[in-house]
Amino acid sequence: MKKIILTIGFVSFSCFFFAGASKYPPLSGSQQQPSLKNSAKFPIGVAVDIPALINNEDYKNIVTNEFNSVTTENQLKWNRVSPAPGVFNFKGADAIVDFAAQHNMRVHGHVLIYFESLPQWVQNFQGDSAAWEQLFKTHIQTIVRHYRGKVASWDVVNEVIDQNGNPAVNDGHRGGSVNVWLQHLGSDYVARAFTYAHEADPNAVLFYNDNGHESYPKKLAAIIKMANDLKARGIPIGGLGVQMHMNINVTPANVKNALTQMARTGLQIHISELDIRLNPNNLPDTLSPEITKQGALYNCLASAYRTLIPKSQQYGITFWGVSDNNSWIINAMHQHDSPLLFNNKYGKKQNYQLFMKGLSSN
Ligand code: G3I
Repeated sequence: MKKIILTIGFVSFSCFFFAGASKYPPLSGSQQQPSLKNSAKFPIGVAVDIPALINNEDYKNIVTNEFNSVTTENQLKWNRVSPAPGVFNFKGADAIVDFAAQHNMRVHGHVLIYFESLPQWVQNFQGDSAAWEQLFKTHIQTIVRHYRGKVASWDVVNEVIDQNGNPAVNDGHRGGSVNVWLQHLGSDYVARAFTYAHEADPNAVLFYNDNGHESYPKKLAAIIKMANDLKARGIPIGGLGVQMHMNINVTPANVKNALTQMARTGLQIHISELDIRLNPNNLPDTLSPEITKQGALYNCLASAYRTLIPKSQQYGITFWGVSDNNSWIINAMHQHDSPLLFNNKYGKKQNYQLFMKGLSSN
């Protein structure tokens, strides 16, 4: 433990403070078990998927013991929820929503309009702009109406600004998906998506969700400009999702700058897809010295969110996956990494203690 303290001390993270695994922060309500959700004054969420949430007891126990909000990781993506024209399959997402209701957890719906994860039938859809508009509107409103009163908030539009701050025309480095919404509906489709979602559930909090705020200043500026424009026009945007898929080379200064600037919009700020890659270059060996950097960044992030985002704007921090073996970085990207707070055997990692400490003191 001492070695770790010294090593971390050597790395100058300005908001780092290490208290050790045994010194949990004092909890409000002395009977509460130490857990992430009991250590924070805002919701702590996690992206969940089926079948693990139904079949895996270790996974379920972590979700219910540690978190009070869940996000639907994949079950509400267009390719899952509407795999064929006119077909809506809510089975997977219903199971998540039912689980959340049984355990008194908030549900954040991900995602209504995303130009990735579209089924072939949408990518190949033939029709004029009115037909595309109808497709777009029907999709949004069918889903939001189905979950009205059960899903508290939505990622209405996801990842439509590129790293240079321009409208994303395709997914760039990720392999070719074209932004069919921009192509067929023109640039103001973002505003209409919010309006359609609001018509379907006026009580849901509606988010624009994106990534790279901490790494791409032009993108950060463009997101803030778009949010302010939408607000000024009376479009019902309620919040901004700051994904924070980070790696150990991101600096605390970059994290703090992104959060400070996002908070100035006055909107709810949701750290919506948090993970920190330990091994961004996907080296074959584990990088044990980098574990201290990873833990320090988790600590910094929790502390920065708690102190830099006004309480009235703290929608919460959501992790993108329960444990390392369930992370998209391992399962979808096939990388050699361990980005989360729980390991492959569902045990707590040092990241857990450090993140928890950041929730309550510097
Ligand atoms: O479930 C099938 C399985 O039946 C099949 O055998 C296997 C074969 O490849 O694929 C499995 O589905 C994969 C799914 O993840 C579940 O693991 C899909 O191929 C894979 O594409 C999918 O990746 C998801 C990715 O988005 C694309 O939709 C990740 O889980 C998910 O974490 C990731 O999440 C995105 C957010 O939605 C938006 N922000 C970025 C974030 C990370 O890319």
